[in-house]
Amino acid sequence: MLNITIQKTTTPAAKPAPGANLGFGHIFTDHMFIMDYTEGKGWHDPRIVPFQRLSLSPAAMVFHYGQAMFEGMKAYPGKNGSAYIFRPDMNAKRANKSNERLCIPYLPEEDFIQAVEALVRVDRDWIPTGEGESLYLRPFIIATDEFLGVAPSKTYLFMVIASPSGAYYASGLNPVGIWIEDEYVRAVRGGMGFAKTGGNYAASLIGQVKAHDEGFAQVLWLDGVERKYIEEVGSMNIFFKIAGKIVTPMLNGSILPGVTRDSVIQLCKHWNMPVEEKRISVDELLEAQHSGALEEVFGTGTAAVISPVGKLRYGDEVMTINGGGIGPVTQKLYDTITGIQLGRLEDPLGWRVEIK
Ligand code: COI
Repeated sequence: MLNITIQKTTTPAAKPAPGANLGFGHIFTDHMFIMDYTEGKGWHDPRIVPFQRLSLSPAAMVFHYGQAMFEGMKAYPGKNGSAYIFRPDMNAKRANKSNERLCIPYLPEEDFIQAVEALVRVDRDWIPTGEGESLYLRPFIIATDEFLGVAPSKTYLFMVIASPSGAYYASGLNPVGIWIEDEYVRAVRGGMGFAKTGGNYAASLIGQVKAHDEGFAQVLWLDGVERKYIEEVGSMNIFFKIAGKIVTPMLNGSILPGVTRDSVIQLCKHWNMPVEEKRISVDELLEAQHSGALEEVFGTGTAAVISPVGKLRYGDEVMTINGGGIGPVTQKLYDTITGIQLGRLEDPLGWRVEIK
């Protein structure tokens, strides 16, 4: 159990007005959580302080070799001044999977969750209440040793910041267009594709810029070896409904094990809806589209929630999915997952956590 000290700001910022367009990740709350790690001493000095700039050496290792991990979570307004978060144990566990791959020290899962909950309590009034809005939470760890040799750092910072946000895509629940990338790759098996670390997102930028230039919102990555099997989208996992069955690429080490991805699979099982994690080739997808079996496509992610895909481009072919509109299963999953998160629906699988 962490003994978190709390220093409240004496100059609180104005909160966004209800109805203001928050966008995603632009606005930050009054406070942040911070805790140090020193080799030999472990994690120490957990504290909540006013949101502020960091002072780091330009030689801090994170700037040079990217030894860093991050997580993404959301807080929603609860009943009687409480707040809800969603499956925080999954984020805490995944953080340690990323830590392990990146040689970052283990962070006890209960400490991760306690830090997130403590910040949500302090900045509870920043949770926005508009439709599709939430307080996006960004826990992360960076390597801070002042050293230019390539080695694991001996010191780190674990921080949590919070950002009142709306939909990740400006288009909201309107289906997005996705570019299937056939030149660049994001990750390979044995690499760190499964880890939530900045380098994976840096690797994805060139494909994303290319996709944007061509008029598509996001890029869908193929496997790095055969460039044949579907992996994930820049900021979400991907699902297809083919001939009545929900399918998603199986986790193979180069795909992010998304919390929303897992929630969709579990919900489908709970509903007795056929669902399968498997290798899906781009050819199989094209075939399904040509035969009329490709019924729905959607992405899943904490930021993106459930995001319908209306258009997929591969080579010279642009596939329009479900007439470019949101499909019924996509809509049902969106309604159910957001309903559970917001406390509007029963929580049959015990995912909602109330912070009092
Ligand atoms: C999230 O969904 O929380 C993520 O971390 C994806 C990020 C690229 C916005």
